[in-house]
Amino acid sequence: MSMLSIGGSALLLVPRNGLFVERDILRPIRRAPATLVGMCGIVGYVGNSSRRADAGHSALDVVLEGLRRLEYRGYDSAGVAVVADGTIAARKKSGKLTNLLAELESDPLPTSLTGIGHTRWATHGGPTDQNAHPHLADGGRLAMIHNGIIENFAELKQELLEKGVTFTSETDTEVAAALLGDIFRNQLNGESSNLTKAMQLACQRLEGAFTLLAVHADQPDVVVAARRNSPLVVGLGEGENFLGSDVSGFIDHTRRAVELGQDQIVTITADSVEITDFFGAPAQGKEYHVDWDPASAEKGGFSSFMEKEIHDQPDAVAQTLLGRSDLNGQLTLSELRIDPELLKKVDKIIVLACGTAAYAGLVAKYAIENWCRIPTEVELAHEFRYRDPIVDAKTLVVSISQSGETMDTLMAVRYAREQGAKTISICNTNGSTIPRESDAVLYTHAGPEIAVASTKAFLAQITAAYLLGLYLAQLRGNIFSGQIKDVLADLGKVPAKIQEILDGAGPLRELARSMKDEKSVLFLGRHVGFPVALEGALKLKEIAYIHAEGFAAGELKHGPIALIDEGQPVFVVVPSPRGRDSLHAKVVSNIQEIRARGARTLVIAEEGDETVRAYAEHVFYVPQTPTLLMPLLTTVPLQIFAAELAKAKGYDVDQPRNLAKSVTVE
Ligand code: F6R
Repeated sequence: MSMLSIGGSALLLVPRNGLFVERDILRPIRRAPATLVGMCGIVGYVGNSSRRADAGHSALDVVLEGLRRLEYRGYDSAGVAVVADGTIAARKKSGKLTNLLAELESDPLPTSLTGIGHTRWATHGGPTDQNAHPHLADGGRLAMIHNGIIENFAELKQELLEKGVTFTSETDTEVAAALLGDIFRNQLNGESSNLTKAMQLACQRLEGAFTLLAVHADQPDVVVAARRNSPLVVGLGEGENFLGSDVSGFIDHTRRAVELGQDQIVTITADSVEITDFFGAPAQGKEYHVDWDPASAEKGGFSSFMEKEIHDQPDAVAQTLLGRSDLNGQLTLSELRIDPELLKKVDKIIVLACGTAAYAGLVAKYAIENWCRIPTEVELAHEFRYRDPIVDAKTLVVSISQSGETMDTLMAVRYAREQGAKTISICNTNGSTIPRESDAVLYTHAGPEIAVASTKAFLAQITAAYLLGLYLAQLRGNIFSGQIKDVLADLGKVPAKIQEILDGAGPLRELARSMKDEKSVLFLGRHVGFPVALEGALKLKEIAYIHAEGFAAGELKHGPIALIDEGQPVFVVVPSPRGRDSLHAKVVSNIQEIRARGARTLVIAEEGDETVRAYAEHVFYVPQTPTLLMPLLTTVPLQIFAAELAKAKGYDVDQPRNLAKSVTVE
């Protein structure tokens, strides 16, 4: 064990076999419980007085700023607690963060250097003021916030009730707080005022999945946190340190972050960061640099984060391509640290993901099978491990996740590794759990995605999947290097083509506004246009709350055509008319079939395709690009349509009802 100093912060590190191990792949896989886990946002801060005098950092300012950035994780209530003048002062309010800000305005908190804050997505007890976090214990001297579910809360609550503890909320968090308070006050045997020790003992009793942060009035300069199967990152500052559910919780103050492992406890003061396991043994963290700046997490003049992120897409694709090929057009995915010989032997690929990321996987299937000739299945992660899938050492599992924290995907990846598969994560969030638990990672460089509805991460995921497919094809000699060079050159032109679509979206926006009272919209596509249709429908459902369905156009006559009635709007993603085996003619026939039955046809087609005009009420053209790359363009008008329509309905585009950004729910 050694004590390293990282820029003013003391960090306890335990080298493993003399090495500072980067991934947790040596650690035995711990099965997470099949449980619901909250998806809240969590922030913690400790600063010193000179730091505050220099930079005006009060704990409350830092915590509220962090909560503002993390609100996308959950937004049904929010709360803060600070330690000041030997006591805990807390405020909490149901509803969005603005409600808490109003409460703080009318009932301010004292100035402090130590604080915690929480934004909630309710899992246990409704979204009321009472159930909001923080929860207090030990006679109001301890405050706790929590993301997750304590599975054995009922048994612990009974035990505490018998000791005379009273409860004011319906939450499991209050039980965890009471347990910690009881241990701190009554069970430390001579180690009084040691919140870290109390947290270790409490975590030994807790079952489930959780991130916990606690402050105590007896130890005013400390925030103690614990993590099991729920995200937590440390931010390293100068004379101040931070905790967050992810780096957006402290990105305004530092880009130096430390990943924590599972079942670890971290104690931060203004000048130190100490990590242990649940039994007090020193443990290690891994420092990394956060490569996006705070400005990229701001709206930048757009009406919503989603609009901004739609406009970030040329950059998201360009950044994801950057530095991944050499001057000869050869792919150089040096970060894929899996033995190339193993990759050559792969006889099956399984792509695991959920929601939008799964649609990126469907696009990947067309490309990977075409280029690599490896059978590729795409499976919703939550279905995968419950059907006894056939997975062995020759299976390559590719998970796709923007957040890197999606519990369904994480569980599926763990299961696949247990079965001996090699796992590659395509992920947008540095240091998140899924890449850490995978054999290798290919990061998408889309920058922070704040809006709940995924846009730029989707295009970046597709781009990364293309790179992976091309790399495997290159490695296995499936296609000529000249062909790889050509595809890379075509990919390189995509960002400018996306920009063209964005610049010419006026008529599409007008159409969207005119359709704000529609009750149902259908989406049709074929080949790579099919996942685009699914994604178009999902975007509309989740932010405009309009019934929407995506279908494979060929499936129409097998049932869905019965839905077509007079005036039914149908988006049709039409394939390119170029090429020998074009599906263009077949999709044009599909358009005719639905028009004949009264549908309003809204067509996305390739520039130069004049034949579709005759059958479309509206045509939106996208620039030409090879068929397999087409989703990078045809998706964009559908995103714009959904965002504009939701805005016209007056909805909160970034924070749709019932949803949260990081779905750590199984
Ligand atoms: C939809 C959307 C979700 C996510 C899904 C997976 O707009 O964002 O469907 O794609 O919840 O999330 P990640 O990619 O974080 O694993």
